[in-house]
Amino acid sequence: MPVISSPLGFNEERLYVDLRSIFGQPLFLKCEGFNFAGSIKLKAASEMVEAAERDGLLRPGSVLVESSSGNLGVALSIIAASKGYRFVCVTDNRCNLSTRRLMEALGSRVHIISEPAANGGFLGARIDYVRALCASDHRYVWLNQYANPNNWKAHYRTTAPAIAAAFPRLDLLFIGTGTSGTLMGCARYFRTWSRPVRVIAVDSVGSVAFGGAPGRRMIPGLGTSVRPDLLDESYVDDVVRVEEVDTIRACHRLARNGFLFGGSTGTVVSGATDWLATHDADALTAVAIAPDLGERYLDTIYQTNWVKNLYGDDVLDADESIVSSDRCDPALGAVTATVPARGNQRVS
Ligand SMILES: Cc1ncc(COP(=O)(O)O)c(C=O)c1O
Repeated sequence: MPVISSPLGFNEERLYVDLRSIFGQPLFLKCEGFNFAGSIKLKAASEMVEAAERDGLLRPGSVLVESSSGNLGVALSIIAASKGYRFVCVTDNRCNLSTRRLMEALGSRVHIISEPAANGGFLGARIDYVRALCASDHRYVWLNQYANPNNWKAHYRTTAPAIAAAFPRLDLLFIGTGTSGTLMGCARYFRTWSRPVRVIAVDSVGSVAFGGAPGRRMIPGLGTSVRPDLLDESYVDDVVRVEEVDTIRACHRLARNGFLFGGSTGTVVSGATDWLATHDADALTAVAIAPDLGERYLDTIYQTNWVKNLYGDDVLDADESIVSSDRCDPALGAVTATVPARGNQRVS
């Protein structure tokens, strides 16, 4: 029976979903959403904070500041609240409303960037703001998840060994790329492991992480408009790029089977199952990482009108679509929903 006195004291590390019956491919999904931050980012956040404390960078009276699309912000909010620091999260208007509210409920200040930088998109604009804050007052401490080696070290120390212990005959590992902390920590670990493992990065179309043209991306978590400093492609065996429509379809398919996961899980599952379908992989042991769960995406990925406004009417097959809609079904009673207007959507 786990009994904790700090919100950092619990993280479910041993849970996997076997996706074969849903997607027809041999794939185990490692669930990283079962902790008090609701995502894998709790690991990177606590590793970076502890290192900054050890180095004397973070002291009583310090104010943490970080650019985050949401999940790292929630994780840092929890850590800041439990350790007595103040925290400012700099995000942009693609951050889910519920995530924003969550950070505020935990006592953090959330600053929303509404205009992308001419070079570097929203991420560039967020980082410019963080730098300006740090220049304005020496109490601000920016951990910089994009370049901080403790980000990948968290996964080298925890995520990768946990997968290795659960799957001693692992052949393939599929990992989504945001800052590339998860990818680099796991890839470095498995490079020196007892048997060869192919590490396959999954990215969204429109992300520049592995080159390619920047494009519209509306789903937070994966993909980036600035190449991640942590990324070393020599550790990556293959890259799969996923269209957001396929992310949405994979999320809805999982949900229709009772598994409500976040957007980046849909991306990773879509990329991994496509890769498996086009390679002779039936006898191989494959794992993918699910960074968070789906409740934070109820107003976006799981909101029919949000999906249709952005991606068109045909994205969801009738049997995949979720009931959430702003239409009133007399049989069900009134259903209300807030649908962002098309003009409010931001692209990077
Ligand atoms: C939901 C979600 N998925 C994936 C990622 C990417 O993880 P990483 O930054 O380790 O590449 C993030 C990072 O913020 C995330 O919030």
